[in-house]
Amino acid sequence: MSNDPLTPYGNKPMVTPIVNAVNYEYSSFEVLRQITDGEIDGYTYHRDDNPTVRAVEKKIAALEEAEDCIICTSGMAACTMVYLTYLGAGDHLIIFHDVYGAHYKVSLILERLGIDITWLDAREGHKIAEHIRPNTKMIFCESPSNPLCKVLDIAELRKEADKVNALLVVDNTFATPYHQKPLSLGADIVVHSATKGLGGHNDLMAGAIAGSKNHYDNLWFTRQAIGTTLDAYSGSLLERGLKTFELRAEKMAANAMAIAKYLSSHPEISSVYYPGLKKDAGYSIASRQMHNGFGGVLAFDVGKSQEDAKIFISELKVICHAVSLGATESLICIPYLTTLLYMPPERRTVFGVRPNTVRLSAGIEKTEILLEDLEQALNRLKTKPALQTRIDVAQKSPKGRGSNYADLRI
Ligand SMILES: Cc1ncc(COP(=O)(O)O)c(C=O)c1O
Repeated sequence: MSNDPLTPYGNKPMVTPIVNAVNYEYSSFEVLRQITDGEIDGYTYHRDDNPTVRAVEKKIAALEEAEDCIICTSGMAACTMVYLTYLGAGDHLIIFHDVYGAHYKVSLILERLGIDITWLDAREGHKIAEHIRPNTKMIFCESPSNPLCKVLDIAELRKEADKVNALLVVDNTFATPYHQKPLSLGADIVVHSATKGLGGHNDLMAGAIAGSKNHYDNLWFTRQAIGTTLDAYSGSLLERGLKTFELRAEKMAANAMAIAKYLSSHPEISSVYYPGLKKDAGYSIASRQMHNGFGGVLAFDVGKSQEDAKIFISELKVICHAVSLGATESLICIPYLTTLLYMPPERRTVFGVRPNTVRLSAGIEKTEILLEDLEQALNRLKTKPALQTRIDVAQKSPKGRGSNYADLRI
């Protein structure tokens, strides 16, 4: 019989065990030395590493074709770890407006630390050369972007980054590794909100950062220092999500494509943003750098006003009015009122988002059910009198959740 209680008689559990230990009893001083000298991959303290989480890191590294991956507590923790690891006072960061709204808050903190930031519209990605400076240390982007699914040419960004030896960091949350492998296109580091498609069931928060062994070491240093290590239970949920990840990604992309095509010819929809549509500005680049489809998220403008978008969403029966994306259930929200709340109102629309822009993350439901749901909600839009106009909290007052975007330059 094996000494290991988890593998008596050598039978291995079919899932990675959830190891909730904070600390580990050293088997000898020699083992302690080997671990601290980095000779062996041992476990000592949860903030350093956890075996359940480490197993998942290896799986995500394989998906992204990376040498290694480091997992942390959320997508924003992952992005912030990347900033804190590689940027310092006097460095210049180029970032696109078309990233998840919370980056705006993080940018206020980075500015306080002396980092210079240039914000660009992803539609101007080809003009990035005009903004590169000798001290540009990092270019951070999403492609397709949040929420308008704009596409950036990752290989072209690589060429620009090379001019000043800057790091190219790509948030691959929207695309997922099923559709896009940024490292193979020239990115140095890939980040994920693993809360989204990788986890996929609306039941965990996690972030992942994939890249070379050297980046793993640097980011591990930061994670251990600041303590953004994921708990083992969430790690286990993430591992379970990964088992069906490719199946889900395939279905979500097929649903998103069907929805995008359907909405493109609907009279109540003025614009559809989805790189899988031939008429989309991002189509040709996306066709080159994405595969197996174009991802499960799209955006579109409903009716003529935010009130129209609210009526439409309120009428949906299957698609859930909620933030987040990449889940088994289809999710819909108005970014102006939700994911962009982190920004002052005047900033939310500078890169093309409108008050009536809606973001839809297709789930894995039957396509016909989703199309029927959209159709009946859009039909109601034609007949229903406008809801009584409410002034949104975020527009009216900087108090409460609306103060998410408060200027932190104190
Ligand atoms: C593209 C993208 N990156 C990062 C994040 C942040 O992830 P998390 O909510 O896990 O911190 C989000 C959240 O929606 C996102 O959509």
